[in-house]
Amino acid sequence: MSDTRRTVLITGASAGIGAALARVYAAEGWDLVLTARRRAPLEALAAALTAAHDCTVTVLTADLADPDAPDRLVADLSARGLTVDGLINNAGFSCTDGFLNTDPARHAAMIRVMLTAPVALCRRLAPGMVARGFGRILNVSSLAGQMPATGGDTLYGPIKSFLTKATAGLHLELRGSGVHVTALCPGYTLTEFHDVNGTRDQVSAAYPAWMWQSADHVARVGYRACEANRPKVAPGVMNNLLALLPKLLPDAVALRMVGGHAKRLKRL
Ligand SMILES: NC(=O)c1ccc[n+]([C@@H]2O[C@H](COP(=O)([O-])OP(=O)(O)OC[C@H]3O[C@@H](n4cnc5c(N)ncnc54)[C@H](OP(=O)(O)O)[C@@H]3O)[C@@H](O)[C@H]2O)c1
Repeated sequence: MSDTRRTVLITGASAGIGAALARVYAAEGWDLVLTARRRAPLEALAAALTAAHDCTVTVLTADLADPDAPDRLVADLSARGLTVDGLINNAGFSCTDGFLNTDPARHAAMIRVMLTAPVALCRRLAPGMVARGFGRILNVSSLAGQMPATGGDTLYGPIKSFLTKATAGLHLELRGSGVHVTALCPGYTLTEFHDVNGTRDQVSAAYPAWMWQSADHVARVGYRACEANRPKVAPGVMNNLLALLPKLLPDAVALRMVGGHAKRLKRL
């Protein structure tokens, strides 16, 4: 980092990987704009980070399932005179009850939060970064985006595939501009994610402790990869081997292996 203080906007900063990324960026000398729906955990995090790192932290609540939320966030930033040099699209959730059992409005919200909003925020904020010759865009995708389809959380993997591939495209497009663009593709990470989707007991029973990583570790890996301008990073050897496996196996075999996921979670 130079002496100039930079500001990073982090979505989904009220918990899990987003909160961990806020801790990493604050420790690395950035000011922060934290957003999510819940104000109380954002303000608690803002107070802790301000005290620990003497940084400026702005809290803006937003529901990214609202189609107007990205534009409102950008308008809020400019009304406050905030220039954003970093963007972390991290907010997300999954629905594991099966495609036919899930309310269509919930599907629409998944697509808006994890696909439409990241695209809109990149499109609105990247031009300023390019014009200033400096920027960092870190899109929190998932290992699920590199794995074969799974039944049960039918849309989650495809949404993350889109995000990973669109991130790689933007990475190529902005190469040499001073704007780094990276997709972070975590595997199982200890956050609120599986409490929110109601599978905590099932995933804990189905997947051993060694398969789980801490949000702090995942966040550090993401930060370093974005600083190095890598198009994509998966934290840990095991997750990289898992991502490789479907490329080595015939599609039908890979689909059968991973398709067992929903049954292991006893959701279908
Ligand atoms: N945990 C894992 O195993 C795992 C693995 C791979 C990838 N990921 C990805 O990592 C990212 C972060 O997830 P996490 O594991 O840290 O989960 P988490 O602990 O549940 O945090 C999710 C964050 O997203 C925010 N969010 C959810 N819906 C939102 C909405 N409609 N509008 C605005 N913000 C919203 C939540 O804040 P509010 O509830 O306050 O709005 C929260 O801050 C997600 O994109 C997820 O897909 C997670």
